[in-house]
Amino acid sequence: MQSCTIIIFGATGDLAKKKLLPALYHLNIENRLTDDTRIICMGRQESSLSDWHDKVTEYVTTKARDGADADALEKFLNKVDYFQCDLTESASYQALNAQLNDPSLAYSSNIVFYLSISPSLFSVVGDQLAAVGLNQEDTGWRHLVVEKPFGYDQKSAAELEQILAKNFTEHQTYRIDHYLGKGTVQNIFVFRFANLLLEPLWNRNYIDHVQITHAEQQGVGGRAGYYDASGALRDMIQSHLLQVMTLVAMEAPADLDDESLRDEKVKVLKAIRPITEEMVDDHAVRGQYAAGVVNGQHMKGYLEEEDAPENSVTETYAAMKVYIDNWRWKDVPFYLRTGKCMPESRATVAIRFKKPPQELFKNTEIGDSHANWIVMGLQPDNTLRIELQAKEPGLELSAHTVGLETIETEDKKHKLDAYEALILDAILGDRSLFLRADEVDLAWKAVDPIIEKWSKERDTAYTYQAGTWGPEEVSRIFDDSCHQWRNNV
Ligand code: BG6
Repeated sequence: MQSCTIIIFGATGDLAKKKLLPALYHLNIENRLTDDTRIICMGRQESSLSDWHDKVTEYVTTKARDGADADALEKFLNKVDYFQCDLTESASYQALNAQLNDPSLAYSSNIVFYLSISPSLFSVVGDQLAAVGLNQEDTGWRHLVVEKPFGYDQKSAAELEQILAKNFTEHQTYRIDHYLGKGTVQNIFVFRFANLLLEPLWNRNYIDHVQITHAEQQGVGGRAGYYDASGALRDMIQSHLLQVMTLVAMEAPADLDDESLRDEKVKVLKAIRPITEEMVDDHAVRGQYAAGVVNGQHMKGYLEEEDAPENSVTETYAAMKVYIDNWRWKDVPFYLRTGKCMPESRATVAIRFKKPPQELFKNTEIGDSHANWIVMGLQPDNTLRIELQAKEPGLELSAHTVGLETIETEDKKHKLDAYEALILDAILGDRSLFLRADEVDLAWKAVDPIIEKWSKERDTAYTYQAGTWGPEEVSRIFDDSCHQWRNNV
């Protein structure tokens, strides 16, 4: 355990309420925060400490796994301070610095700065922290945690990196992709590298294609203001789904060192076949939901959402085909898709194997051969299913699909939120589950040509009815007529 001071910029925002403060509360219950660890919540509004504690109590209580325990809550609140500040005012940072250095308050000199604020403020906060020397590691370490979005294309991401790099080193920077904090996503890595059985099959000789799906039943809700400038490709594929893909496709790292791991992920991203403007239509399809019914409930269309601009063609569904041109994966399509207002909420990795080379059973009741599948369910449950063909009992030579299946439904105690794992790693200085600048850059490079083309067109934004699996036009990205989305686990 490391004692530290956690300073949350944007502590009155949504992320802090829904994720960060509840995650810290749970970490405290698990004894993962030292006794002298303190949490300074930075907010613009004036608030007494007791009023702030009342709010924190409310945020934490709604998320507490076992219901909020009065004793645990009191212990947690003892760690929580409120600091009123104007992020653009140097006086605020001087006061913060003085507070941190006041010996009577005994703050730990190791500091996690958590930037849960608009990226447009990164520059001013970084400069102001540097102006009072708070980025210096003379007395303790400094870890800067930043939330996505990291830019909205490759160029703007590079600019943002420059801003961060002005005051903090790469070593101090922790870029969050909350998918990497999910135990089920980390399980892809364990499943691949803790088992020998799969490795001989895990390549272009045996795998026909890979599907990575993230579907959610919710629409954009009240987020259309943010979402409209982003869209599904940026919001989910550039970040989370490409990360999941790197874990499926990477080579085993030399060791578990954070740089070894990230080096291997970067190699995958570097090997992505570039998409030219002419190739975009064969590689990507977008859609926007129209009114429909999800789970028995009427959903309005995207254009009727509050704050959605009239005539917007922003996609709420995106699918993309990626090739990784290396020895292991050349010519194996990776199909990535994500959508809002889908019939189900689930995330899966489905791997379809090639068919046996000989149609031995063609003229029997078994008929044409079937492909094997490995399907990993990432959420809502951690599932693993391996599909094989087996003879059906009886006198006939007929076969059926049998699934070897595990379902690990996390019990309440172990149902960790991704933010718990990530905040803990940011405290411990383990950057394995955080993005390195080159990963972010290469992920933008992969999607930039699509973003660019879509920004110039209106007629390639298809609509799909809420409650369906997206626009039919998506089938044009498939390489083979036998490829189709697998919607079930
Ligand atoms: C966020 C996106 O990063 O991930 C959201 O901005 C999306 O639009 C969310 O809904 C999905 O995360 P999860 O963990 O609910 O699958």
